[in-house]
Amino acid sequence: MLTAHLIGCVIVLASLLTPPLTLPYSGSQRKGLVSRHVTLMKNLALLIAMMNFRLPSDLSYLQPVICAMLSELRIGPTVRTMAAVSSMLFLACALLYLQVSDAQVVIKPGDCPAVVGQSTLDTASYLGTWYEYRRFPAVFELGLDCTSAVYGLAGNGTISVTNGGTIRITLFGKKYVIKRSSIQGNATVPDPSKPAELSVSFGGFSPAGDKPNYFIQETDYENYSVVFSCAQLPGFNVQFAWILTRARGVAPSNLSDLESKLTDAGVDIRPFFTVDQSGCDSS
Ligand SMILES: *[C@@H]1O[C@H](CO)[C@@H](O)[C@H](O)[C@H]1NC(C)=O
Ligand SMILES: *[C@@H]1O[C@H](CO)[C@@H](O)[C@H](O)[C@H]1NC(C)=O
Ligand SMILES: *[C@@H]1O[C@H](CO)[C@@H](O)[C@H](O)[C@H]1NC(C)=O
Ligand SMILES: *[C@@H]1O[C@H](CO)[C@@H](O)[C@H](O)[C@H]1NC(C)=O
Repeated sequence: MLTAHLIGCVIVLASLLTPPLTLPYSGSQRKGLVSRHVTLMKNLALLIAMMNFRLPSDLSYLQPVICAMLSELRIGPTVRTMAAVSSMLFLACALLYLQVSDAQVVIKPGDCPAVVGQSTLDTASYLGTWYEYRRFPAVFELGLDCTSAVYGLAGNGTISVTNGGTIRITLFGKKYVIKRSSIQGNATVPDPSKPAELSVSFGGFSPAGDKPNYFIQETDYENYSVVFSCAQLPGFNVQFAWILTRARGVAPSNLSDLESKLTDAGVDIRPFFTVDQSGCDSS
């Protein structure tokens, strides 16, 4: 079904490389504004198409093209209205697509679910190595398996974070590592009264500023940790979730209870998938 993907990508690329179909305006300034807008929308469509490159075989790869075409609609009395209307249509189309497809990002309308961190955190017991058992699709972990997180002490109340994983391909039943990935970060607790709500930043860059972006909903330190993260944007939110385990690839004995707890907090857990942690030590 790779062929379907390739055809989809060629269609998307072709649609991106061709000039806008209709530009019924006079005046170079107007044309400039409109074509800049169309270029932006097309780039967004390409981004979405690329994020979904691993989609199973279906026609959903055509959707970014449909969205891109919507972005070319010209409805409204002025150029600005037209741009606004087509932007809205494009965003609505893209959001719908990301919701229904096996996308590499979990976007939901409205506010972040009200997941809270557990009331206490014994930092010393939490340190050490954790393996991803399940996670939500995340663009920054696209294609990664054998994923782990190592937490240590960086001094002055800071926790050091080292996330690692591999990109592997399977040839004739054997897995080969084609890329190893490792990223260093730091975690702090912005509000000491909420010790299990951490702010993790990578390379000194913290997308959420000082706000917590790593909520330990529940951990028993020895077997599992349920971690939730959510970025609030105007009108929608982007969610990440992980079930971490101390033993590589071993499901927590009460996995379904842990997942139900996320559900009870308002999280749709359907995007969870089990991370491939097999054959990681040998590769
Ligand atoms: C350690 O943390 C405290 C409180 O956050 C801060 O005031 C101080 O500057 C930090 N020291 C170093 C060496 O980073
Ligand atoms: C983490 O914090 C330490 C100081 O506490 C700093 O030296 C180091 O550069 C930070 N690492 C990253 C990846 O931000
Ligand atoms: C949790 O891990 C500890 C230490 O490895 C083990 O003794 C215990 O049986 C585990 N508990 C469960 C419920 O799996
Ligand atoms: C999961 O199991 C542990 C014991 O291993 C228990 O302490 C914890 O409350 C359970 N969590 C849920 C959500 O049922």
